[in-house]
This record gives sequence, structure tokens and C-alpha cells, in this order.
Amino acid sequence: MIAGILRESGDEKRVALLPAEAAAVIKLGLKVVVEEGAGTGAFASDELYRTAGASTATRREVVSGADVLFTVNPPLEDDISLYREGQLIFTVLDPVANRDWLEKARQRKLTVMALDLVPRITRAQSMDILSSMATVSGYKAVLEAASLLPRFFPMFMSAAGTIKPARVLILGAGVAGLQAIAVARKLGAVVEVFDVRSAVRDEVKSLGGKFIEVEGAREDAAAGGYAVEQTEDFRKRQQELIQERAAAADVIIATAQIPGKKAPVLVLKDTVTRMKPGSVIIDLAASSGGNCELTENGKTIVAGGVTIAGRSEYPAAMSSDASKMFGNNVVNLLRIMTDGKGNVNPDFTDEIVAGTAAVHGGEYLSPRVKQLLDI
Ligand code: NAI
Repeated sequence: MIAGILRESGDEKRVALLPAEAAAVIKLGLKVVVEEGAGTGAFASDELYRTAGASTATRREVVSGADVLFTVNPPLEDDISLYREGQLIFTVLDPVANRDWLEKARQRKLTVMALDLVPRITRAQSMDILSSMATVSGYKAVLEAASLLPRFFPMFMSAAGTIKPARVLILGAGVAGLQAIAVARKLGAVVEVFDVRSAVRDEVKSLGGKFIEVEGAREDAAAGGYAVEQTEDFRKRQQELIQERAAAADVIIATAQIPGKKAPVLVLKDTVTRMKPGSVIIDLAASSGGNCELTENGKTIVAGGVTIAGRSEYPAAMSSDASKMFGNNVVNLLRIMTDGKGNVNPDFTDEIVAGTAAVHGGEYLSPRVKQLLDI
């Protein structure tokens, strides 16, 4: 079978498979054809792909010739009729935002493997693109905060006096939040952390953060390890405690999200006015509404001397290693779908395959897609 790697559009700098991961696909017995310039944003030239054993071609040739296509974002700009019935597309889908495209893909009888829907079970950890990209975001968020902050992160005792360490408040200790704790601690900051899942308490502590608990959080074992929406009373008490801790913080890294829902608003406008001028908020939940009431997605604003950066695009900005992690995750998923002789034969009774396949054979398949789209 032939695997095609598509070039991304817009500001996206990542590529689904770098040359080393293209070589891993070739090892699985597939031929690989790469759209010309696909790796440019991630510093991988066409020449490097050819050296890895792939060929290069125009987009039209890749789309018409490949049985399996790899892309970071869904190929929305293309006419869906260019794609063949039965063709497999591996992409990050965001099924709610791209529901119209997905419906067309279903009618066209494409198989769409939604990389953001890989079930979060132990066996699928090596395929978890959301975790990889959240790792990039958590890391970059702290570095950007450190560079925007007009103060040091570490404590300094110098001839010019003693400088206190920065205080970093992290909202949400999922993959991005945990990475942010680790990086902020390495830079010498004092770190405090809020989350609604008590399961993360020990992880936060082991990374050197202080876990601040608000009593009475709703947790739901059926949510698959994710957070659920909280009661009005809890939200009020949590906002009050966050307000108190925010007044002492130099930096807030906000990462709290609830899958398929608007992000919880944890930092009110009033809270921002109580923060020290010069403080920095990096809001990683910006694309789903933001954890800060003042966040503007994709923009950096200053309110009352506090810099608020609404950032959801860090993975695209760290294109090289983000693509490396992305490609490794994709190859690990592809590996369980191939027969070792170059054929991709998805086993739809496999929990990972069935959970990831958004549409197949003209039907919606993934239970999570059906749930998110209310089908
Ligand atoms: P996420 O991006 O959905 O949310 C980030 C964090 O925000 C979560 O820890 C969540 O509990 C927290 N949050 C939500 N509402 C909040 C509120 N009102 N106040 C404070 N915090 C709030 O989470 P992410 O990073 O995608 O991971 C969630 C969990 O999924 C992991 O901790 C883990 O349990 C599970 N997971 C499992 C994997 C696997 O087994 N393959 C891989 C990755 C994650």
C-alpha cells in the first residue's frame, strides 16, 4: 500500500511524519510519497525524505495515489471528492469544530482516524498525540512566561541583594500542567497548583509543587480520567481561593479544560486587578474559551499591568520536536493496524482502532465522536 504525507496549510509548521518516521512506515512495508515541501516548516527538506526512502510528488498526485494519508490538520481546503472511497486519513480532527467536513468524509466513505480521539488507556499511551502536544505546550508556556516576566524565576543571593523566587500558580495538573510544574521548578520558582481531580495530588507533590485542594470537587469515574463540570457552589469557592493565591503569584499558567465543553473560567477580571503589575498569565485553554475572563485567543494583551497571553498554538511553533513526537505516536498507531507486509487492515474490534475511527464505511464509529456530536 502507499502512504502519503500531506503538506499543512496556514500557520501550521508541523508535519505529520518527519523523514525518520517516514522510514519507520517504509519498514512496515508501505511505500511513502510526500507532498513537495511538506516538511519545510519543521526543517525537513524533500531531499531528506528521499534519502529516507520516500518519493516526493504534487498534492494532487499524493491524494490520488495514496491509500493512507497522514496530516496534522484535516485537509479542509481540498474538495472532498478528490479523495477516494475507502481511503484512510490520519489527522487531528476536532470533531465538534469540523463536524461538516466529517459528515462529507462519512458520505464519501472515507475512514478518518481521529488522532485526538485515541482512547486514554495504558496500551495507547505511546499513541497519545494530545499528551505529546500538551507536553510541548506546558514547556513552552513556562519559558514564555519567564521571558515576559520582568523578574527572575530563581532566588538569587548576590552582592546587589537577595531576589525572591517567582511564585507560579498552575491551574490544571493534566499533561500540560504537570510539564509546566516540572519546568517552573527547574527554573527555581515556587509552584502552587489547583486541580479538581484528587488523583493528581501525589504527582504534583513529587514534582515539587504544592497542591491546593478545594473541598467538594465533583469527580466521575466514567469520565475516563478527565475532569467534569463543577457545581456553582464549588466554582465560587474555587474562584475565591484562586483569587487569594493569584494576588501572591507572579505567573499563572492556566491549563484547565473539560473535553467537549467550554473551559472553566477560574481567573475573573477582578482577580486580574488584584495581581501585581508586571505579572504574567499564559492561558493554554484559550482556544476553548480560556481560564481567564480577559483572555483573547491568539493574542497577548495587557490589563492593569498584567500581561495575558492566550496561547493554544505552541505545538505548531515548536515544529521540529512537536513533529517528531507526533510522528512517533502516529507510527505506533499504524503499527497495530498493519500486517507487517505493507497492508493496512484496521481491526475495528480493537478498542483503540474503534475508538479512534471517527467514520468508516459510511458510518460514524467512535463512541466518543457520537457522544461529542450527539449522534
Ligand atoms: P485536560 O487538558 O482535559 O485538562 C487539564 C487539567 O485541567 C486536568 O487535569 C483537569 O482535571 C483540570 N481541570 C479541569 N477543570 C478544572 C477546574 N475547574 N479547576 C482546576 N482544574 C481543572 O487534561 P489532559 O492533560 O488531557 O489529561 C487528563 C487526564 O487524562 C490525565 O491526567 C490522565 O489521567 C489521563 N490521561 C491518560 C492517558 C493514557 O492513559 N493514555 C494519557 C494522557 C492523559
